[in-house]
Amino acid sequence: MAMGFFLANPVGIFVLLLATLAAGAVIGALWDAVLLAPARRRRAQARVTEAEQSEQRHMAEKDDLMARIGRLRSAMSSEDKEIWLRYESTQAPVLAPRIAQSIPIITMANLKGGVGKTTLCANLAAYFDVKWHKRVLLIDLDYQGSLSALTLNASGNLIAEETLTHHLIKGDKEPQWLPYAAQSLAPVLNHSAILPSFYDFATVESQVMLSWLLGDTHMDARFAMARYLLHPSVQSSYDLILMDCPPRLTTGVINALTCSTHVLIPTKLDRMSSQAVTTFVRQLREMRPLLFPELEILGIIGTMVDNSVSLTPNERGIWADMSADLPPQWRGPVHLYEGAEIPQKSAVAAASGSAFAYLQDKATRELIERLGDAIVDQLDYSLEQRAKAQAARAASADVPKAEPPRKGPLQLFPHGAGARHGQS
Ligand SMILES: Nc1ncnc2c1ncn2[C@@H]1O[C@H](COP(=O)(O)OP(=O)(O)O)[C@@H](O)[C@H]1O
Ligand SMILES: [Mg+2]
Repeated sequence: MAMGFFLANPVGIFVLLLATLAAGAVIGALWDAVLLAPARRRRAQARVTEAEQSEQRHMAEKDDLMARIGRLRSAMSSEDKEIWLRYESTQAPVLAPRIAQSIPIITMANLKGGVGKTTLCANLAAYFDVKWHKRVLLIDLDYQGSLSALTLNASGNLIAEETLTHHLIKGDKEPQWLPYAAQSLAPVLNHSAILPSFYDFATVESQVMLSWLLGDTHMDARFAMARYLLHPSVQSSYDLILMDCPPRLTTGVINALTCSTHVLIPTKLDRMSSQAVTTFVRQLREMRPLLFPELEILGIIGTMVDNSVSLTPNERGIWADMSADLPPQWRGPVHLYEGAEIPQKSAVAAASGSAFAYLQDKATRELIERLGDAIVDQLDYSLEQRAKAQAARAASADVPKAEPPRKGPLQLFPHGAGARHGQS
């Protein structure tokens, strides 16, 4: 009835329309207030939370980045040695027993350039190969590639200028790769091979060091080489490993030291050079506990002396100073190859870059043999001491030994230290 009244009357229709609209608006407002608004509020809240979390994440990433850059900056502003001591490591004690059982791994190093390291490495390799028929692995750790160029040239092999050494610090090959990849030095050195380096090695060294300092990698950049040189496939392929170093504590040099049994230090016998040796020996001792507790100094070699027959009073004075200064720096005995110095000789300089002076020149050969024989004596002595210490440790621990201590000296040089007197 009422509805009829409204529908029959235009004013009624208008009022009805208004009422319907008003009801719709009220229902809409109620719908929005009860159902949509809370959901909107929740979504807005979620967006705020997400933005806050993202902001926090960015702040944390920024803090982390700043901390890593700070570490990098402080590492780069300190002396080289400090960089390598920056982080603790548990690796050295793990490697120690394997180094104690290793073939001789000798790092030829000095923080001074131009003292005859590279020349000695090449000629000692020739001495061990030709005189003792030892399988020598040379490793060039100097991006200038002098040892690579010298030995490949002198043995008539192709110089491809392809660095192989970088794999040892990148760790991107299996250890079995090494004996196949090393470049043979036959037919001149029939038992020996080299892992060469050229300029690209320096780039890889920087990359490996930076990514370690930045914490981008879990690999400890100081111990990568040990995985290769201490591996059975490498240990059984060579009798001796000899590494040539640049005059800085580069990534390659630190890796060499952390897996070496010995370090040999050539030096000129002048005041500046001997001070550099004292500094180097002190740095080695400071790094030793953390990085290479097994490392021994095989000795200091006098190079480029004035005369092969007798030393000048100055040169004798330098030996005397070193014999007083070095043992306290190293906190142990340091052997000096007195009486086996390598003189400044034109034949050595002339052969440089293209030939092994050891094979080219009779007088040089005799000088290298005198030094090589003294090194063999010292190596024999050192390996014998090591075997005794190992046996004593095993006896006092009263545990069955997995392996007998390596008879380094007699195994390496079966005729013993004195054998040189009967050898040609
Ligand atoms: N006993 C020597 N007599 C003469 N020249 C030498 C002798 N030993 C090295 N040299 C020359 O001195 C320079 C530096 O020698 P090198 O072996 O490259 O030193 P390092 O590797 O320490 O920088 C080279 O040109 C080399 O030919
Ligand atoms: Mg050199």
